[in-house]
Amino acid sequence: MGRHHCRLCTRAVTMAQILTFIFISLFYGTLAMPAPPRVDPITPEERKTAEEYLNKYYIMTNKSGNTMADKIREMQKFFGMKVTGTLDHSTMDIMKTPRCGMPDVGAFTAFPGRPRWPSNSLTYRILNFTPDLPRNVVEDSIQKALNVWSAVTPLRFSKVQAGNADILIQFSRQLHGDQSAFDGPSGVLAHAYAPGGGIGGDAHFDEDERWSNNRSGFNLFLVAAHEFGHSLGLGHSTDRSALMFPTYQFVNTNNFRLPQDDVNGIQSLYGRRQQ
Ligand SMILES: *[C@@H]1O[C@H](CO)[C@@H](O)[C@H](O)[C@H]1NC(C)=O
Ligand SMILES: *[C@@H]1O[C@H](CO)[C@@H](O)[C@H](O)[C@H]1NC(C)=O
Ligand SMILES: [Zn+2]
Ligand SMILES: [Zn+2]
Repeated sequence: MGRHHCRLCTRAVTMAQILTFIFISLFYGTLAMPAPPRVDPITPEERKTAEEYLNKYYIMTNKSGNTMADKIREMQKFFGMKVTGTLDHSTMDIMKTPRCGMPDVGAFTAFPGRPRWPSNSLTYRILNFTPDLPRNVVEDSIQKALNVWSAVTPLRFSKVQAGNADILIQFSRQLHGDQSAFDGPSGVLAHAYAPGGGIGGDAHFDEDERWSNNRSGFNLFLVAAHEFGHSLGLGHSTDRSALMFPTYQFVNTNNFRLPQDDVNGIQSLYGRRQQ
């Protein structure tokens, strides 16, 4: 609202404008008020959702730290919440936020051995297209998403139309030939595999989402840029402003700049771009 206020100060305003301004201020003021904390109990269905979420995203390698409460603590720590080990509504709210399908803690995230591609020249191939967007928009979004990473590293990506490629890209719904079925609209949006042969590096997008190149539905460029971070060897970041934060958040995609946390991560694997 700061900007509205400044504009109003610098020019003559009518009473109607002032009233409109006051009305808008009150309206947003109401919206900005924190909702009172919910005190109703967590339902059995919510508890089941929570268990599934924690078993999927918090794969504890520490066998003695494997109870539901341990996993809740790990999750609360990851998202920078108050660590209680108790399932409450604010923890449930995060679990209901659309996100990437890769774990936050466990086998994949750590990416043991820090796998990276041995070569800086990588190939990619788009195996199929979502009907949500014109084909050229899909191609453009994918290319821009790869450019996010090549802009700050010596990595180079070239598109191939046939045969194998390091990074195979596909749109699929539900079961689609790997161990991680998609889940219909919202929930898991996409997943991608760490560098390696076979499925390594591949990125899969849930066709049950509505893909866009704007703020409606889910922005393909933003989700793809995140997934390609995994394809190149990055796990999830606990930094809320990072591209590699696990939950989806729309940000302005014009002149997108890779956040510093992600720049540090990718340069630790591949080094800086040589000018
Ligand atoms: C394993 O988990 C238990 C219970 O949370 C914890 O007390 C212990 O320190 C953990 N051990 C390691 C090596 O992280
Ligand atoms: C977003 O793009 C879709 C096409 O993908 C279009 O139908 C829709 O109107 C656009 N929405 C906004 C808010 O620009
Ligand atoms: Zn992810
Ligand atoms: Zn998959």
